[in-house]
Amino acid sequence: MYVISGSTHQRLGASLAEEMKAEFCGVVNRHFPDGERYIRILMDIENQDVVIVQNTFPDKKIVELLLMLQAVKDAGAKTITCVIPYMGYSRQERVFQSGEAISAKAIAGAIGSMCDRVFTINVHTPSILNFFDCEAKDINGSREVVRYLKGFKPQMVVAPDEGSRDRCALAAELLKVPIHVMKKVRIDGRTVETTSGQIDVKGVTAVILDDIISTGGTIATAANILRDGGAERVFAACTHGLFIEDAANRLRVCDDILSSDTLEGVYTRFSVAPAIADAL
Ligand code: R5P
Repeated sequence: MYVISGSTHQRLGASLAEEMKAEFCGVVNRHFPDGERYIRILMDIENQDVVIVQNTFPDKKIVELLLMLQAVKDAGAKTITCVIPYMGYSRQERVFQSGEAISAKAIAGAIGSMCDRVFTINVHTPSILNFFDCEAKDINGSREVVRYLKGFKPQMVVAPDEGSRDRCALAAELLKVPIHVMKKVRIDGRTVETTSGQIDVKGVTAVILDDIISTGGTIATAANILRDGGAERVFAACTHGLFIEDAANRLRVCDDILSSDTLEGVYTRFSVAPAIADAL
């Protein structure tokens, strides 16, 4: 087996190859002077099982992924598996207002037509897996988050909205602590309004768990409620840490912020490589 990584995941790809005792295949990955991408696979992968690891975020990384898929296909790989740790565009899975593009369908359609199977990790909307024209599965990275969180001895898991209830319920079960689900109403891309209902957090160490942290609004609002309620320590954990704009500033209300390596950044504390290796 060969593992090939695009520029979003050199480190994760190498750890995955190591976990799976596979070859980590080099790639010439550069730009032409006009900005167009050039990809060349550096090993003979004819008749081999190949795993490509790359995010579909930001936009330019999608082009990189499509070129890698094409190169691997044309080089005669026996099977092609595409691992997309962070599936960008998974939040637009339907038409909310007439005339909109179903972005997830467009991106998944292009990728799925060029490989045999796809794995995503904690994808925001699991129903988008149906848009891939091949076998597609979502890997649950919650166990990796929980393994890391144990060190903080949390006494409560807080779901910042209804959408994160199931993921948080699993984490709470693994951590053997209660779960509290908040209610969130999104006002716009940067603003949310959250209510907590009855919650007793005085002196408690709580962890707020979400799939994505983007502007930090969801977590900061929930964390402020916990602080006002007297929580002693508040941690925020997510699988996909985008941390755009002034997210870091908004999240200063938290004692610490932890995210996985589906998006590598300053808050990356744990790897989802073992979960991917298991699934593969
Ligand atoms: C939305 O439903 C997601 O699960 C996250 O809660 C959301 O993407 C977080 O965005 P932000 O950090 O901008 O509030």
